[in-house]
Amino acid sequence: MKKSYHLTTFGCQMNEHDSERMKGMLEMLGYSEAPERAQADLILFNTCSIRETADTRFVAHLGEAKRLKREQPDRVVGVGGCWAQSVKEEVFERFPFVDVAFGPGQTHKLAEFLTSDSLSAQGYFEFEGFTGHLPAKRARPYQGWLQISVGCNCRCSYCIVPSTRGREVSRPLEELVDEARAMAADGVREITLLGQNVNSYGRDLRILDASSSAAFTRVRAREGSRDQTTRINPGRPRSRTFAELLYALDQIDGIERIRYMSPHPKDMRKDVIRAHADLPSLCEHIHLPLQSGSSRILKAMHRTYDRERYLDRVALIREHVPDVALTTDIIVGFPGETEGDFEQTLELAEQVGYDGAFTFIFSPRRGTEAATMTDATVPHPVKVERLQRLVEVVQRRAHERAQRFVGRTLEVLVEGQSRTDSERLRGRTRHNKVVNFSGLAQPGEITQVEILDVTSQTLSGEEQLLARAIS
Ligand code: SAH
Ligand code: SF4
Ligand code: F3S
Repeated sequence: MKKSYHLTTFGCQMNEHDSERMKGMLEMLGYSEAPERAQADLILFNTCSIRETADTRFVAHLGEAKRLKREQPDRVVGVGGCWAQSVKEEVFERFPFVDVAFGPGQTHKLAEFLTSDSLSAQGYFEFEGFTGHLPAKRARPYQGWLQISVGCNCRCSYCIVPSTRGREVSRPLEELVDEARAMAADGVREITLLGQNVNSYGRDLRILDASSSAAFTRVRAREGSRDQTTRINPGRPRSRTFAELLYALDQIDGIERIRYMSPHPKDMRKDVIRAHADLPSLCEHIHLPLQSGSSRILKAMHRTYDRERYLDRVALIREHVPDVALTTDIIVGFPGETEGDFEQTLELAEQVGYDGAFTFIFSPRRGTEAATMTDATVPHPVKVERLQRLVEVVQRRAHERAQRFVGRTLEVLVEGQSRTDSERLRGRTRHNKVVNFSGLAQPGEITQVEILDVTSQTLSGEEQLLARAIS
């Protein structure tokens, strides 16, 4: 009889991507997806460990898996992802009902485990291979992830990711272009490039210029660009750049939207910003993680930019792409953060006026430098109060920013039914704003929607049916 699996995914878009690949691999092995955990022969988790809340939430789910395994002992319980990697030494000791555990760099080993006759618990924790090489089972046929690199060479003092995902390795540009072409042929219209630090893409690659992207060289030549990062030096190997990848992907017929997640402010160079102005498919949205508005705290975080440099990047982006939507990540309550430091974050959020922000309370993570700064811990109630004040500024400014869309007709990629009203549709603008609207379009269609109203989070409007009839 055909075996079934159930996979629960926690964490970021990279994990969503990895889970689609796990599903693709399992279906190649003949497994089918079970609608509920209790019906599955293989219970899988793709985990996250970015903050303590991520751990707690997951461990509660693991409790249910333990119970289900007790009821039916031939069930297999598998745990992949960042949490698994971060507890690799103790996972089987603490959770003896787990049969297989693997880190983000070893997803492919799940197939090896399932096809072997191994009865004992197995752990796989090397950093090797890209999940992007595995077959995908896409959640939505018209949207696809493209894993351009894995790992992170930064050493942000609060962050567990370098230890769970390893050193940064980029995939060859030609391979990515081929994959994006295959996705387009499959009906994908929007791709999101994924990496921990996407705009440092390619530094580890070495190519000879004969094979450099013709499209990119052409655009640069037309502009008479003398960009340091892309200067051609015939016969000598050079690295690749993120901008070069963007130019190459923009050439692919059928890919109408390109997004990426996440860039690092330190690597947000002019060539990437110019690509936003140049390339029709590159969306008007940049997620530029700030973390703190205080240069002193940024230094303690090892972010390698300061407040001025960050604001200078924002100014450059807005100069070249005036209508861009800017979003960010901010942490409050980093060890040693004073009221004065926090006020600088508030002020910066006020000044920039983000279109949206993810705001987090600092959470000490095992193995990180910031977790050892216990003598400078900010008391929990202070952290909570700062978060509330920050959220107030972020939401007010996002609401104000969203007003610029009222009365405009925007291009929307339809994603399905509205979550709050089944009579209405839901989609996303190029600015990455969710729009709830009335209309007739089908999921996967790109249509025109007139924006009538906004909140800090979403837009609402009406599909322009006449425009649809003509197109
Ligand atoms: N590689 C990406 C994403 C990192 S994780 C990047 O650098 O942008 C996503 C966000 O989680 C980070 O930007 C940060 O704001 C937050 N984060 C990471 N570690 C954290 C911690 N220990 N406590 C609180 N928030 C954290
Ligand atoms: Fe973590 Fe910093 Fe790397 Fe992002 S850039 S994954 S925050 S270490
Ligand atoms: Fe979480 Fe790992 Fe992503 S810790 S946020 S799943 S990179």
